[in-house]
Amino acid sequence: MPNSLRSRQRSNSLGRGARGAGRGTTKAFPVSLSHVCRPLPRRHKNLVIVGAQWGDEGKGKIIDVLSEDADILVRYQGGHNAGHTVIVDGHEFIFHLIPSGLLHKHKVGLIGNGVVVDPEALINEMDRLQARGVDVRRAVKLSDQAHLIFPYHKRLDIVEEAGRTGRIGTTGRGIGPCYVDKIARSGIRVADLCDAEEFPIKLRACVEEKNRLLKALYDEPPFSYDELLARYSAYGKRLAPHVVNGVRFLRDAMAQGKRILFEGAQGTLLDIDHGTYPYVTSSNATAGGACTGAGVAPTAIDRVIGVVKAYTTRVGEGPFPTEFPPVLMERIRAKGKEFGATTGRPRRCGWFDALIARHAVWVNGCDAVAVTKLDVLDEMDTVQICVGYRDGKKTIHDFPSNMRLLSRCQPVYESLPGWRTPTGDAAAFDELPPAAQRYLKRLEALLEVPICLISTGSKREQAFKIGRW
Ligand code: GDP
Ligand code: IMO
Ligand code: MG
Repeated sequence: MPNSLRSRQRSNSLGRGARGAGRGTTKAFPVSLSHVCRPLPRRHKNLVIVGAQWGDEGKGKIIDVLSEDADILVRYQGGHNAGHTVIVDGHEFIFHLIPSGLLHKHKVGLIGNGVVVDPEALINEMDRLQARGVDVRRAVKLSDQAHLIFPYHKRLDIVEEAGRTGRIGTTGRGIGPCYVDKIARSGIRVADLCDAEEFPIKLRACVEEKNRLLKALYDEPPFSYDELLARYSAYGKRLAPHVVNGVRFLRDAMAQGKRILFEGAQGTLLDIDHGTYPYVTSSNATAGGACTGAGVAPTAIDRVIGVVKAYTTRVGEGPFPTEFPPVLMERIRAKGKEFGATTGRPRRCGWFDALIARHAVWVNGCDAVAVTKLDVLDEMDTVQICVGYRDGKKTIHDFPSNMRLLSRCQPVYESLPGWRTPTGDAAAFDELPPAAQRYLKRLEALLEVPICLISTGSKREQAFKIGRW
């Protein structure tokens, strides 16, 4: 980071405290004046890790590797549609809602306000982790502003999907309908669940409204308010010890100089604004989502790292210009074990698409990218990179917003020689076969950012950093 930027940050934090105290705004906060006036210690690296394709890039693995250098891990959007795999000492862990770095001891994970939480799924995940030795009671915090998923969200997700002409291929977890309620200002948050007077009132209104909707549009049977009240009240009691004011929690952590790693779920091309709309999820998976979904300012973020696979995959429907023909699809799917970590669905696979990855680098402001699953291409004679799209006689160099156009685009490929050598044991860039090095250098040139980490296998130790960290 340039020195000028550092000194600007220092003077800003001093200035902010002094202005707040001068206006008497400190009265509103239950903290001492000296606490407000003291400048924040100079920040350590607060990192955002974000998927730079259509999800499943190997974020879980990269987050696990980088969590070693973080104190607090924060999930900022999505829900249990996510499946983040971490393999340590031959044991596989799949994280859905809980941040993926918690296998390291003494870390604390926050589920931020931007996440939609199915309490049953969260409790199950906590129980599974606890049974495998993670001190969940200490390590998992839940923002009181996070929205809750109810069974009617899940039902709506399924019936809406079944009734759509152009299917999205959602995970059926109720994610979209829960975000709909959030934006419509009729959602129920963790803070409501913890309020024994307010919760029954809000829940009754929601259940009645959803029952009317489900009956009128889909002829679906109603949900029982009494049953949901009893079930969710029990969840509330179980989750209460984990609930925190997320903004205060992170503010205090930063004041103590703790390093924060923000974990994106899904990927840039599944982002509600910047993805292949409508074939997207319902949240901002991009780096900006870390601010709104955790309750920190953009100035709190020091670095953004995008994660890309050495090829491309997607689950669900929607255009995918570089999708493999069937034989190659089967080969790469088998070698890369490309089956959804949440739903088990086979993932669609294709060549690396530099247009979508560069779009992701721009939207997220990636400082660098981590490349995963290089080993999956080890046996290829030739590897291809999509460097443009052809639409009739026109060549397009930027990722288009028009999905009809994207669907008819033909990829323009650059072919490079394969390396036909195993890469799983490489521990440094120059230990990679020359052709693999050339492939990675070409990706770097096309994405216009450095590659900072390479993963050549699913195990924690099959990854190495590149350059200065
Ligand atoms: P995420 O959603 O981005 O965290 O990714 P997933 O966990 O859904 O899918 C990535 C899959 O690839 C998991 O099965 C990982 O264990 C696996 N994986 C991650 N990195 C590598 C790698 O470098 N090589 C191989 N062969 N597998 C990897
Ligand atoms: P991680 O975090 C890959 C896809 C679904 C579907 C679309 C909308 O593991 O990378 P939703 O249930 O979110 O409304 O479905 O988004 N999708 C993912 N694809 N990885 C994920 O998460 C995904 N989460 C959602 O397949 O196409
Ligand atoms: Mg996944």
